[in-house]
Amino acid sequence: MTRVFSGIQPSGDLHLGNYLGALRRFVDDQHEHDSVFCIVDLHALTLPHDAAALPGKTLEAAAMYLAAGLDPEVCTLFVQSQVHEHAELAWLMECNAAYGELSRMTQFKDKSARGEFVSAGLFTYPALMAADILLYDTDRVPVGDDQRQHLEFARDVAERFNSRFGPTFVVPEAAIPTVAARVMDLQNPTNKMSKSVSSPQGTVLMLDAPKDIEKKIKRAVTDTDNEVRFDIEAKPGVSNLLGVLSAATGEPPEKLAERYDQYGPLKADTAAAVIELLRPVQERYAELIADEAELRRILAAGADKAQAIASVTMARARSAVGLLPR
Ligand code: AMP
Ligand code: TRP
Repeated sequence: MTRVFSGIQPSGDLHLGNYLGALRRFVDDQHEHDSVFCIVDLHALTLPHDAAALPGKTLEAAAMYLAAGLDPEVCTLFVQSQVHEHAELAWLMECNAAYGELSRMTQFKDKSARGEFVSAGLFTYPALMAADILLYDTDRVPVGDDQRQHLEFARDVAERFNSRFGPTFVVPEAAIPTVAARVMDLQNPTNKMSKSVSSPQGTVLMLDAPKDIEKKIKRAVTDTDNEVRFDIEAKPGVSNLLGVLSAATGEPPEKLAERYDQYGPLKADTAAAVIELLRPVQERYAELIADEAELRRILAAGADKAQAIASVTMARARSAVGLLPR
């Protein structure tokens, strides 16, 4: 069975785009592949962060992934820092990564241009990410398009390591969706829905109350010609609503478009569909987040399962580079 691995930043503010574009796919993946999902709290340390808030955010991320349908009996869900092999293998990755190669990472350039304190950890971020992936003999890594360069880096380091020290790692493939469910910002439908943009009204958060979801969708920016047609170029706002309604109902957007001749009913139906789509996830989330002991138990069991795999790979890598066993 192919092994799938993906990492998720611990952020409490997951939105509808994350759900339709990533989370929901992970939930399907778990039944077809041997799936490992990691909440990457060590990566969260690369930028200035609120230490007091991080444990809570880590638990919230876990609860949201479970609420979305990841089943800890079927897949492995764990916290990166609870499996020490990640930090350990990251060092071996750093020693096999070229300074020039890390300097070319566009995400490092973007993030370091924004911050005042640029940590060495931000620079070596891709080496830790490569360690995450290689520890699990991963075949496929489902990620968004923005992670393409990091994935290429992980492949390059794996190949370099294997050629320097002998076959040690599986070289992973990226799995980047071709027909990405790209959910656009409701206020600015030519931009991707994202938690970092300035318009909170354009982003439906996973935990938004039904009345807020309704308000945001009813106020979505469309256009003035009042014709319901699926045409992303000419009608980005209307097409985004049709895309969301399609993702929620499973019907093709072109076919849905035929049913409406006004924006009002399209918005009302889209709002209702999103509310119904998120309702069971929100209900499960409320139960899960209320039982911290159970969440911790699930994550501890996940860390045990993960470590059973990671420790074997780590031992192989230590031996390959010539570290003396204790
Ligand atoms: P991020 O929150 O940017 O770290 O993204 C986490 C995951 O959600 C990645 O796999 C992204 O590709 C996916 N994602 C983020 N925003 C959207 C969006 N607006 N539409 C579809 N997928 C998204
Ligand atoms: N860098 C990824 C992101 O920001 C998160 C991540 C960390 C990851 N380690 C990973 C993704 C390993 C896939 C595989 O989205």
